[in-house]
Amino acid sequence: MSGRGAVGAPLDRVEGHLKVRGAATYANEWPVENPAYLYPLLSTIASGRVTGVDASAATAEPGVLGVLTHLNAPKLAWPNDPEVAALQSGEVAFHGQFVGAVVAESIEIARYAAGLVTLEYEKRPVDVDMRADRDDLLKPQHAAIFGSQPGDLQDGSSADSAVGDFEAGMDSAIHTLDATYSTPIQHHHPLEPHTAIAVWTDDEITLYCSSQGVHLHRTLLANAFGIDASRIRVISPHVGGAFGSKVFPVTWATLAFMGAQLVPGRPVKFALTRQQMFTLVGHRPATIQRIRLGADADGRLVALGHDVVQETARAKQYAEQTVAASRLMYAAPHRRTTTRIATLDLPVPTIMRGPGEATGMFALESAMDEFAVSMGMDPIEFRVLNEPAVHPESGLPFSSRHLVTCLREGSRRFGWEHRAPATPARSENGWLIGTGVASSTYPSPRLPGNTATIRVGADGRHTVRIAAADIGTGTWTTLAQIAAEALDVAVEDVTLQIGDTDHPLASSAGFSSGINCWGTTIHAAAGELRAALNENGGAVPDEGLEVTTDIPDNPYIAQYAMYSFGAQFAEVRVHEDTGEVRVPRLLGVFDVGRVINPKTARSQLLGGMTQGLSMALHEAAAIDPRYGHVVNNDLGGYHFAANADVGSIEVHCLEERDPYVNPMGSKGAGEVCIVGTAAAIANAVCHATGIRVRDLPITLDKLL
Ligand code: MOS
Repeated sequence: MSGRGAVGAPLDRVEGHLKVRGAATYANEWPVENPAYLYPLLSTIASGRVTGVDASAATAEPGVLGVLTHLNAPKLAWPNDPEVAALQSGEVAFHGQFVGAVVAESIEIARYAAGLVTLEYEKRPVDVDMRADRDDLLKPQHAAIFGSQPGDLQDGSSADSAVGDFEAGMDSAIHTLDATYSTPIQHHHPLEPHTAIAVWTDDEITLYCSSQGVHLHRTLLANAFGIDASRIRVISPHVGGAFGSKVFPVTWATLAFMGAQLVPGRPVKFALTRQQMFTLVGHRPATIQRIRLGADADGRLVALGHDVVQETARAKQYAEQTVAASRLMYAAPHRRTTTRIATLDLPVPTIMRGPGEATGMFALESAMDEFAVSMGMDPIEFRVLNEPAVHPESGLPFSSRHLVTCLREGSRRFGWEHRAPATPARSENGWLIGTGVASSTYPSPRLPGNTATIRVGADGRHTVRIAAADIGTGTWTTLAQIAAEALDVAVEDVTLQIGDTDHPLASSAGFSSGINCWGTTIHAAAGELRAALNENGGAVPDEGLEVTTDIPDNPYIAQYAMYSFGAQFAEVRVHEDTGEVRVPRLLGVFDVGRVINPKTARSQLLGGMTQGLSMALHEAAAIDPRYGHVVNNDLGGYHFAANADVGSIEVHCLEERDPYVNPMGSKGAGEVCIVGTAAAIANAVCHATGIRVRDLPITLDKLL
């Protein structure tokens, strides 16, 4: 029995056989006795309030167990967060907000009866006008993102950053660029919709739900309902994708709780429809971004500025650090970033894969390409020339930074040397062909609130418990590998238990922090268990041995800037007559530290690149300015990349161990892979056509 080689092995997913046989239990599939069903009512106005409710026809319908609106919903103990506190008033802050629910004997009756409820509204004018020149832009109060080090923003009180004198730097520059980029609202659509089964008894409230973090969900619900968290159990062993949308917003779980209170002891099932997911699970906020770059005669950056306006909701302020990557990617003595938010009558945004970096790096990496081309420089050489020796704002060294190696290795693998220097690059059977490159980055934060328990039985089996989440990324497998290595036992001798609040506290699967936080905690617990066994002469006592350990502090966090990096290369074809864009080839080279499992890592990385391709070419919500609703609110109207859109995607990891982020030597991998893809494609489109598209997505009308 040895754990040597456990980390780094391309193991199949340990739960894979359950998933392919349909035997993995997802939230809506838990076998519960005699469930009732909830169907929600959504507002049909974007701004105003509910002035009248007539639920008599619905209540009279056979099989209806209850109708909830703000008039009779339980008053919550913590009504301040509109993302949790559903139905606390008649106020309507966006189109598609929960304004009621019907609980019934069947989903069909619930849905039918929901249509019988009549609501009257008092409407206010709708404001969904996303412009950078609004006179009511605000500085964000907080930013929902975790930096990896003290220099990073944790709250919006310092939402702007400045080093040197940006304007003076621009004035001194020989070459300058001033360009504005924009990105639309994008939606999370994981395979598994947001769904919950709630069972409310006097003793315990059980919630089977699809969650990126069961403990956070429990805390939010306990606070909202004013009940002790120990009374609530949240269970979520398998999650059919999430992309950030199953971390924070739990209004749907609130509604399931309220429904369950109506029928105590009886399970209430609730699953959002695809259409409802367009307004109730968060979205990536739209941005307008101005990038200004100044360089000396040699192409060395002297000034770098990034000013962002992003959309937020009237119901609740959400802001992310779209500028974050611009603060660390390239050296420049004079730099400035600003963030402002436009408060609109729209649903509440939330984190979506690469929150901040995904949109921010579309702008920065497009600008870097434009600027290189305008100065007659190779886009890779321009980036390499401006590689910083230390974090350009904090002055801290990087724990590891192999961006230049990613660019060089990618260049070699992609065949960048054969690239035509001119634009348009070349034409083949009516298709213009071009190539582009962009850099990627994402922090590797360590989040607090992680505890692991490991128990070894007299039979030598190790049971590892931590309430981590597997959102489809491979956690079931990778945490077992980390435990096996740290315990020096075979992976088969480890039983992992995750996805349940009965297991010790764990942070949510988000911000590319999962393996870093949970793995570090397991590693620490394994060390303690081995020490305890040693004290016992190496033998397991008859009754077994158990240790429980919190995540250790990492003293290096104050000393090093901790980020993953990558370089993404794209080849595109643009049809000369129709403007249709195809992406036959993507290549990503990533510096994500040591790879725990090459198989699941590759899958995650190419998934992120595919999502980046989707962001580049397809994804955008169309908002009706008159009524404030998402017009294309189904998967027929909201386009995203399908198999036919994706050609060859090649993923390569450098496998350089990071010495400081965690004891495994790994860095985050879940989000760096979507960062930069859209810019690489936009840059390739420009190389092919000479047309610079600064507004995503790159639809064919923009190329004609
Ligand atoms: Mo990721 S957007 O932090 O789930």
